[in-house]
Amino acid sequence: MRTQPDAGPATAEEAWAALATVGGRQDPYPLYEAIRAHGETVRLGPGKLVVVGYEECDRALRDTRLHVQDAARYDTSAPGWRDHSSLRAFTSSMLYSNPPDHTRLRTVAGFAFTPPRIRRLRSVIEEMTEQLLDRMAGLGAAGSAVDLIAEFASRLPVAVISAMLGFPEQDQVWFRDMASTIAVSTDGFRDAAALERADRAMDEMTAYFADLAGRRRREPRDDLVTHLVNTHDEDPRRLGHDELMGTLMVLLTAGFETTSFLIGHGALLALERPDFAERLRAEADFATGYVEEILRFEPPVHVTSRWAAADTELPGAAVPAGTRLTLILAAANRDARRFVDPARFDPDRRDNRPLSFGAGGHFCLGAPLARLEAQIALPRLFARFPRLAATQPPVYRDRWVVRGLDTFPVAVTA
Ligand code: HEM
Repeated sequence: MRTQPDAGPATAEEAWAALATVGGRQDPYPLYEAIRAHGETVRLGPGKLVVVGYEECDRALRDTRLHVQDAARYDTSAPGWRDHSSLRAFTSSMLYSNPPDHTRLRTVAGFAFTPPRIRRLRSVIEEMTEQLLDRMAGLGAAGSAVDLIAEFASRLPVAVISAMLGFPEQDQVWFRDMASTIAVSTDGFRDAAALERADRAMDEMTAYFADLAGRRRREPRDDLVTHLVNTHDEDPRRLGHDELMGTLMVLLTAGFETTSFLIGHGALLALERPDFAERLRAEADFATGYVEEILRFEPPVHVTSRWAAADTELPGAAVPAGTRLTLILAAANRDARRFVDPARFDPDRRDNRPLSFGAGGHFCLGAPLARLEAQIALPRLFARFPRLAATQPPVYRDRWVVRGLDTFPVAVTA
């Protein structure tokens, strides 16, 4: 469990500023509590609210007067953003759209995420999990350390989403690395060099997608890329060219790093607590509550944002039109008014409904898929390698918005 530093920041402004530092990003939880000490919604300068309460974040996510930043909004808030192809791609997706565009874009991709379609993926996920565990067993057979993130946690989600989209298997590791480079552009802390790398990767991906779309036009398949290409070709008003690219990008990036971090944290917490590892192996239903508690305790997405398109209010705070809101989901998940003993990891927690997948109109489209992958992957990992052990402490990626383990060396035959 993490401990509060002896002398934390005294003001919410200091805590907020510390979140922009490497140390703050490594362990932001004490900083969230330092902000919470000043209220559940905290005003940081004119027109800016930081929200750390559960009820307040939930209400904000469901409030239709609070919008996501879309292209029109970026034109006023971040002039010059259109020069960056990585930012352009994301803003053409549902994640950065408001109704009516949002509704249209979500409907087009939503067909692939219905509960029966996700249930049908179970056997695919099980098979992919076994293949990756075989590979790990081979890599670690001679007692060498294997990176759990690179070889397992990040490979499974990219294999699953690639199968859904219809991406060739041999290109998956390339996608993973490109998507990782591009995803930096969605993080709150951007540096110019990282953004330039993201743009170059985006240009390569766009060319790749355009080529793949051409191939699916000539030889259609029963996959999501064919469906999206057909939708665009039949009626570009339902899905424009940039929107097609944006949808492919967001499905690839929104789904893989996040799920990889979920599996990585799940493995880490079970290695710290052998009784949880044992229950993952032995109790058929344990993984459901376990995964939900990882989502609450170490959410892969720490923060999202909204802005007020009209006057509205949250409990205890007026929100005038134009206000920018930072919603810290990871802090809401540790709100003591909603969760008993919130800093304790408890997989048997009842009525555990963290905000890790958001809420309201933008509620994560891939939530059932991510849950299913982790619920399959974690019990199989510990069943296959009963003596799994860390060989070195894991390293966190230096990111805040989407946060998780970068590397985690383990021995599979310890
Ligand atoms: C543990 C894994 C995941 C986490 C923690 C996560 C988290 C989130 C969150 C918090 C949002 C809402 C953002 C907001 O309201 O501003 C979101 C949206 C979204 N997620 Fe996920 N996600 C995960 C996995 C996935 C997967 C596997 C996919 C698809 C393959 C996916 C696709 C999406 C899409 C398309 C949206 C946008 C929905 C919309 O704007 O209507 N996510 N996700």
